[in-house]
Order: sequence, then C-alpha cells, then structure tokens
Amino acid sequence: MIERDTIPLVDLSAQYQSIKGEILSALSAALDGMNLFLGENVKLFEQEFAEYCGTGHCVGVGSGTDALILALRACGVGPGDEVITVANTFIATVEAIHAVGARPVLVDVDPDTCTLDPTQIEARITSNTRAIVPVHLFGRLADLTSIVDVARRHSLVVVEDACQAHGASEGGRRAGSFGDVGCFSFYFSKNLGAYGEAGAVVTDNPEIAKRVALLRNHGSPSKYQHSVLGVNSRLDELQAAVLRVKLRHLDRWNEQRRAHAATYNRLLGGLELRLPDIPNDSSHVFHLYVVRSDRRDALRVALQAEGVAIGVHYPIPVHLQPAWTAHGYETVSLPVTEALAREILSFPLYPEMTTGQIERVCACVARALASADGRDEQLDDGADLATSSGTD
Ligand SMILES: Cc1ncc(COP(=O)(O)O)c(C=O)c1O
Repeated sequence: MIERDTIPLVDLSAQYQSIKGEILSALSAALDGMNLFLGENVKLFEQEFAEYCGTGHCVGVGSGTDALILALRACGVGPGDEVITVANTFIATVEAIHAVGARPVLVDVDPDTCTLDPTQIEARITSNTRAIVPVHLFGRLADLTSIVDVARRHSLVVVEDACQAHGASEGGRRAGSFGDVGCFSFYFSKNLGAYGEAGAVVTDNPEIAKRVALLRNHGSPSKYQHSVLGVNSRLDELQAAVLRVKLRHLDRWNEQRRAHAATYNRLLGGLELRLPDIPNDSSHVFHLYVVRSDRRDALRVALQAEGVAIGVHYPIPVHLQPAWTAHGYETVSLPVTEALAREILSFPLYPEMTTGQIERVCACVARALASADGRDEQLDDGADLATSSGTD
C-alpha cells in the first residue's frame, strides 16, 4: 500500500519542531536584551561561525548575495575586471560579479561533481582576470586544490561561493576556508538556514574582514563617520540568535543528509539513473540530492502526480537566461552545463526525512521508469520497495 501524503522537497516545520524550545528561548533572550543593532548574538555568531569554518574572521551580512558582492568589493574586484565562474549555479553568483562592475567569464563544469572544471580555467585567463568564484554546488566542494593552485600561479583572488555547502570539509578544512574568502547564505532552506534573509563572509585575512565590516554598515567605522561608500547589509540580531542555535546541530544534520543520500543510492542502484557519487569524507554535505535522467521531464511529472515534490536545480543555465543572453553571452557554449540542465532532478532530502519516506520516493521512481519503458517486471520491484520495512 502506498501512502498518499505528499513528500516535500524540504520540511522546515519538522526541523523547527525538533528545536522549538531552544529557538524560542534564544529569541526571547534576544528580545529581552533589545540590543538589535549588531548586538551580542551577531558578535557571538561571528565568533562561533569563524571557529566552525576554521577561519580567523567572520562578518555577518544581510544575505548570501550581499556576502558575494561585499567580498568581491573587499578584495578590490571592480569595473573592468573579469571573474571566472560557472553558469551551473544559482543566478546570484553571477549577479554579484556584475553588481561590482566586473564581467563574469563562464566556464564549464566537471560532469561528475557538477562543479567548476579546473582544467578549463587557464585558457580563459586574460590580463583583466582578477578572481575565480568556484561554487560548491548541491553541498559538494569544488576541486579547491586545483583551483587555488591555478589562482596562486596567476595571482588571482579565490572567492568561494559556499552558499550551499555549510560544513563540507576535506582534509580537515571546511568550506569557506580554502580560498581568500568564503561566502555563505543562510536562506531558510540551506543546511544552516535562518528564519529570514541572512549571510556571512569568512576569511583569514584581517584586512578583508575589516573592509567587509565597513561596507556592510554604510562604510562607517564609527557612528556618523563614513570613510567609504557602503550599504546597509548588517546581519539581523534575531537571525543571528536562530543561527547560533542551529549551528550546534549542523554537523549532525549534515551526517543525516549524507546517510539519506546513501540510502537513496542503495535503493535506486539498479535503475536507469545517474546517481551522485558519495565521497567517503565529508566533502559532500548533500544540500540537494540530484540525479540525472534522459527522461527527466516524464519522471518529474510522474513523481509529482504521486505526491513527491521534485526540484530542478537549475533548469536554465545562466548564459541562456534572457537577462544574460543580451549581455554578450549568446555565443557561449557550455556542453556539460547544458546537458545537466536538461537531465537533472532533485529528490526530497532533509535531515528529518524518514527511511520510509525515502523508500516511497524510490518506489515511485521505479514505477515511473518502468511505466515509461512499458516494462511490467520493474513495476513489481517498485511495489516491493514500497512495502519494504522502514525505520519510521
Ligand atoms: C550558489 C548560491 N549562491 C548564492 C546564493 C545567494 O544567497 P541569498 O539567497 O542568501 O542571497 C545562493 C542562495 O540561494 C546560492 O545557492
């Protein structure tokens, strides 16, 4: 028997219920203190998140997009500069580069990791290139060893877009600590999400940290003094209070995400799908569980009809978006990125998901693929999967 309840892509309520007491008492203390302007929670969160990422500094800002913009500005990237990045990302990565007056130079991604292919960087470096922005997409670290190596050889700045990879680590180092600066989003569905907009910049470089801190607060070193042109992008005190609570759970939640990804891979094993590879270390924290299928659209429709929410991250690569084609990107060709946009689909994944829910998604996938093929045998396998015992 198949349950008919819908399975969401992310269930934020389930997580909230599990930490409700801690959240409400943190918010209540913050409101009792009423120190809402870069208050105690912002300062403590900045210390705690810097320590978590293994960097000397963290500056809380208003969003992940602002983190990227302010980090690029603090690194001196501006008009006339070129910044190498990927088109296989959320649009904010390239918007931030454009916002500082620089030009995004788009390169293709590795088909296995879906992240920036380091072998493509050198051919695109010109005398105007100032920075590389690798994106740790879906929670998977980009190949930072190779990327940082190319950057150092050409004196380029590395700004990590770690907005989807809180806590991902390799060789004892965490996302955000490999390049010159790391940028995080705490958008509510991220692995570490606030209950509103929030972001942060982490770095070991005290000068970069100082400049971001100035820029996020109207360029103001002290009240009503403005030494540079800045913006208002301060981290909100209440969001910082929420983030401090959630940070304590992040490693456990990331482990649950990795375990769920392993369950998916085990149950989907024999099917005609390209599954994500699960590294042995924590270099992938599965912000999203993304598979590839050449029958993506049919599969998506079938799963949604069974009450399984499905995402596509992302259906149109940056260079093919109407906002960008007009800016000289119409001739850009990125075959791997374009194939991914046609084939990828994201299955529900969140720490509180039950094995029973994962089994149900996998059963639906088996059925959908079998009916697309007209192969009745697989239908039976799907039914077995649907009724096999779960832990919930
Ligand atoms: C890869 C990537 N970069 C940048 C951002 C922008 O973050 P925010 O939405 O907090 O501005 C996001 C968030 O969705 C993202 O996924």
